Amino acid sequence: MPRRPAVLLAVVCVCVGVWGSISTQKPPPLIVILLDGVRWDYVNIHRGNGLPGFERFFSQGAAAEYVNPAFPTNSFPNWHTIVTGLYPESHGIIGNYIYDREASKVFSIDDLEGAKDPAWWSDAEPFWITATKGGLQSALFLWSRCDVPWDGGVLPRHCDPFRFAAPNTDNMVQNFRQAVDMIQNQGYSLAMVYDGIIDTQGHYFGPASSEVAAAVRDTDAALQQLWKDLSDRDMIDNRPRDGLDGQGRCGELDVVPCLEESQVEKVVEYGGYINVPTKSWLCDGVMESLRRCPTVGENVNVFLKKDVPEPLHYKAHRLILEIVVIAKEGYMIRPPQTAYSVPESAGSYEGNHGLDNTNGRNPDMRAVLYAVGPYFAPGVRAGVVEQVDVYNLLCRSVQLQCHANNGTLAHVEAFFRPGVPLQSSAMSRGGIPLAALMAIVSALLLL
Ligand SMILES: *[C@@H]1O[C@H](CO)[C@@H](O)[C@H](O)[C@H]1NC(C)=O
Repeated sequence: MPRRPAVLLAVVCVCVGVWGSISTQKPPPLIVILLDGVRWDYVNIHRGNGLPGFERFFSQGAAAEYVNPAFPTNSFPNWHTIVTGLYPESHGIIGNYIYDREASKVFSIDDLEGAKDPAWWSDAEPFWITATKGGLQSALFLWSRCDVPWDGGVLPRHCDPFRFAAPNTDNMVQNFRQAVDMIQNQGYSLAMVYDGIIDTQGHYFGPASSEVAAAVRDTDAALQQLWKDLSDRDMIDNRPRDGLDGQGRCGELDVVPCLEESQVEKVVEYGGYINVPTKSWLCDGVMESLRRCPTVGENVNVFLKKDVPEPLHYKAHRLILEIVVIAKEGYMIRPPQTAYSVPESAGSYEGNHGLDNTNGRNPDMRAVLYAVGPYFAPGVRAGVVEQVDVYNLLCRSVQLQCHANNGTLAHVEAFFRPGVPLQSSAMSRGGIPLAALMAIVSALLLL
């Protein structure tokens, strides 16, 4: 019997799902596709000449109006929110760059070997571990951080961890094909595929560039190839069963002239916010000079950690240190590039994320979420989904019990056809027909 997956696509993320049989009520296998840097309106903007790979989600599946990412709206924090349902302050990956003062260690997206240390990842169990423990054979492709063992030793059966890849879709096409094969022939029930081409081109050339347009088209071609592979292998089962424009530019703020090395221990991150641990708790003076800093002061909010506004959910974690400076809408903080900054240097980008997206600010940070498969309602336009909700969609798609999280299942309920079981008690899975679920998640700001 063919195994027919579901496909889920999300922007800071895409997901594809594959599912189990009708007769046994097992959920279909799930393919989750995470397309990084796909701003919520890219697909519409580039749809002019047709994007059949993406459009299949709209015609046959359910789509969110948009996904509101978690703050900070950067890659690592949001990748981990997608797979844990937790705000960064609760899952601990509070930035692309983190400074652990007690251990005197730095976490950096530029040092993937160091970022592998399980200590950074010990706060929250990711979805693929829950799935693996629940008996789903899981395969992850370019997915951060599937190579970090949980509970001292649990790992997914297949893991090709995140790395920076060349900006072409060869990897994506190959990974889709391998995922489909593993589901069809090797007993896998969950495949999670990351791709960063749209994010990479958006950073280097800007969201309105022809390079981004080409990356969206190339990604569409890869999706078309996936649909064709699934169809050729008779793995598509959509029968019911019981994320360019934005021409505004961001102002760049230089905080360096207003920081004194004698007072500041580190400046962590750049872009939407910086975290400023101070020497000997000299908070008042440092905050005052940032607030009075010419051109910077009026365009940022400077908070003591304990006063960071509630909607940002960005103060509970010990790794968030005493001063948090958040750029106001339309502004970004330039990489400080000092001896005490983390990272010490950074390239300049034409597009970026990380900005405050709460209370309707910086709508360019919004992402997409699409899902196709036997469990998903066809043609449904669901409302706004928060990044923390996506995890609940994933768990329900494979009928696993989620751990406690900050999302709400009701927010993604509209994605499901009526009568889809909430959760199965028996997790036995056999070789059965599948369906497809796919979601994309991502966001990018135009500079
Ligand atoms: C998020 O969920 C975690 C785990 O249940 C909980 O500890 C935390 O308080 C929640 N945060 C909020 C803002 O509700």
